[in-house]
Amino acid sequence: MKKWSINFRIWHWANAIVVMGLIGTVLLRKGFLSYRENAQVILDKLSAIDVSITLDQAKTIARAIREPMWEWHIILGYALAFLVIYRIVLFFTQSGKKSFQFKELNTHHKLVSAGYVVIYATLFFMTVSGLVIHFYQDLGLLKETAGKIKDLHEAVYQIVLYFVPLHIIGVVAADIRDEKGITSDMINGGKN
Ligand code: HEM
Ligand code: HEM
Repeated sequence: MKKWSINFRIWHWANAIVVMGLIGTVLLRKGFLSYRENAQVILDKLSAIDVSITLDQAKTIARAIREPMWEWHIILGYALAFLVIYRIVLFFTQSGKKSFQFKELNTHHKLVSAGYVVIYATLFFMTVSGLVIHFYQDLGLLKETAGKIKDLHEAVYQIVLYFVPLHIIGVVAADIRDEKGITSDMINGGKN
């Protein structure tokens, strides 16, 4: 039997793409497409050609430029919600059940397992909180309450942001050192 079932591998790589995409949308929102910075660029460039608008008008334009990109946060958000349900279903399958369990459980493996538990809980929280902020009006929540949940959603984002590079570096290091082939196992399924 394979170490990782085909269903588990599809889940892992789809999840990796979706999570990295979500991080990408956040980095764009806070970086190149930051409405505060772009509003200033719009103001400066217009004033260079003798057109004057207010800062609020410039912010409205900058937000409109950002909007089509941010729609991807919501689209990928729905994809993540599907993947979280998919992962819960996988817990009841052979390869999902014995995941993040190692043959010899040394301190390092205990830490890796704990890291996976933390990231699963984090992804669950991000999905629920993200959906709640998106649908706050339908849920009858106040804007203020949605704002507080958004602050939590944004704070917990840090865990995802640090997990991804640490996970990739960790997997590459393990593959080079004492767990040769773990990356290709996640691609071809490996052997038990
Ligand atoms: C593109 C780079 C990535 C590579 C090469 C990679 C590779 C791997 C490998 C080889 C494993 C098995 C490790 C083991 O046996 O302990 C694994 C597990 C895992 N990966 Fe990734 N991964 C990548 C990206 C991601 C991303 C972006 C996420 C998003 C959160 C993620 C989430 C997970 C989780 C949760 C597990 C644990 C699965 C389980 O045992 O339940 N991976 N990854
Ligand atoms: C790994 C998963 C996710 C990460 C890392 C993430 C990250 C973030 C971050 C950092 C923000 C704050 C952006 C800012 O104000 O600068 C945010 C906002 C938001 N996220 Fe997520 N998110 C994730 C999943 C989701 C999901 C599943 C949904 C649901 C569809 C969602 C919907 C939203 C909404 C509606 C906002 C508020 C946008 C606004 O105020 O205009 N997110 N997300």
